Amino acid sequence: MSDFVQQVIDRNHPFRAKLAERRPLSAGAKAVWHLVFDISGSGIDYKAGDALGVCPENNPAAVDSLLAALRFDGGELVTLPRETAPANLRDTLLKKLSLRCPSTAFLRAVREHAAVPAEQIELDTALNEADAAKQKAWIEERELGDIAELAPSARFSAQEYVSLLRPLAPRLYSVSSSPKICPEQITLTVATLRYTFAGRARDGVCSTYLSERAPLGEAAVPVFLHPSKFALPDDAAAPVIMVGPGTGIAPFRGFLQERAARGATGKNWLFFGDRHEAKDFIYKDELLGWRDSGLLNALTLAWSRDQAEKVYVHHLMRRDGAELWRWLEAGAYFYVCGNARSMAKDVDIALAEIVAAHGGKTPDETAAYLAALKKTGRYQRDVY
Ligand SMILES: Cc1cc2nc3c(=O)[nH]c(=O)nc-3n(C[C@H](O)[C@H](O)[C@H](O)COP(=O)(O)OP(=O)(O)OC[C@H]3O[C@@H](n4cnc5c(N)ncnc54)[C@H](O)[C@@H]3O)c2cc1C
Ligand SMILES: NC(=O)c1ccc[n+]([C@@H]2O[C@H](COP(=O)([O-])OP(=O)(O)OC[C@H]3O[C@@H](n4cnc5c(N)ncnc54)[C@H](OP(=O)(O)O)[C@@H]3O)[C@@H](O)[C@H]2O)c1
Repeated sequence: MSDFVQQVIDRNHPFRAKLAERRPLSAGAKAVWHLVFDISGSGIDYKAGDALGVCPENNPAAVDSLLAALRFDGGELVTLPRETAPANLRDTLLKKLSLRCPSTAFLRAVREHAAVPAEQIELDTALNEADAAKQKAWIEERELGDIAELAPSARFSAQEYVSLLRPLAPRLYSVSSSPKICPEQITLTVATLRYTFAGRARDGVCSTYLSERAPLGEAAVPVFLHPSKFALPDDAAAPVIMVGPGTGIAPFRGFLQERAARGATGKNWLFFGDRHEAKDFIYKDELLGWRDSGLLNALTLAWSRDQAEKVYVHHLMRRDGAELWRWLEAGAYFYVCGNARSMAKDVDIALAEIVAAHGGKTPDETAAYLAALKKTGRYQRDVY
């Protein structure tokens, strides 16, 4: 371990971690990566269940195409509000500012600077606050390049332009390791986000930075620890049920490493899955090994696209509801991690149905049972 320990590490003073390894975990359309960060010398003291904050850089190709659209060469000097020294525009756009989701103040300024009526009309529609939900959706889908294309007549000085932009926010990732197994390393499990919008390919900023652009083997990736209440029970004999399809598996890999290292006697049940068993079974050898060794007492797998009808983790929870209820009554802790929009909601509904059906409870009694689980830390969610 190095003697140097940085004093304060937080989102404003991140540690430059070395990305020691980047390995693909999946073979399908959805790319998922195993990333290993060397945190020696950082003083970062993490626990399984915490998250790592990553300060990404934008894609240089996106920055260059924006500079060209705005007719800047990138060498212009600009000073951001909280900075004392000026920096060149290209570097500032690359490292400090968000190229997505422009603010209404920015759109209003573009509207004012636009000299062509057709461009002004288009922006007036976007700025119409009569339908707030529609306006929010419009803004969330737009990047600065879209606005430059929509209003090419709007001209700014470089300083004026950057002062209208939002800072580039760090992203959080669940730690997928246990410090008991790797105290000087943190591993992450990251899905590369790609989608199309209006026929155009779009990339997630941080997930593509981590999976494609972050340099390997250099102390270069700014990170900080985001401690979480999402944690294993202190009682090593308590049973644990973990529901984590997709990247939701991440903290549970750390939990299982931790349970093995602690020699925890409590039973472990993991619900996992993704699109296709053949291509998306990430950490397959590890998970099957833990099942064979008995660390995992149950491994329940939902492959959503391997058959005509979708099979999701909550369908299999219902199927195994009687056994799940027995685990809960034996004091099991219930954890959910992953997609908040759909999965976590459906899992919550299935859990309530299991409690009602197998516990013979009324809706009020079910709600009280789940509230008590939450209050005592026996129902924890880490969803995004
Ligand atoms: C506590 C926590 C833990 C997390 N753990 C993990 C983890 O272990 N692994 C992991 O991979 N991720 C994890 N995430 C998610 C992660 O933080 C990022 O949100 C994710 O990687 C996307 O970031 P990005 O910068 O690549 O995408 P961004 O550039 O931030 O783009 C995301 C945005 O793109 C838009 N978008 C996305 N899909 C579409 C679509 N289909 N159509 C239109 N617009 C769309 C949405 O507006 C969305 O907000 C976690 C999040 C939290 C809060
Ligand atoms: N913006 C979006 O629309 C969007 C959507 C998904 C993921 N993401 C992001 O992409 C990244 C990777 O996501 P991820 O790997 O965690 O998960 P994911 O790609 O969302 O899905 C993992 C598995 O969960 C299944 N699933 C879908 N809906 C479900 C439900 N209601 N209940 C249970 N399972 C369900 C999926 O099936 P199917 O895919 O076959 O339905 C897939 O098999 C994350 O950063 C996430 O935030 C964004």
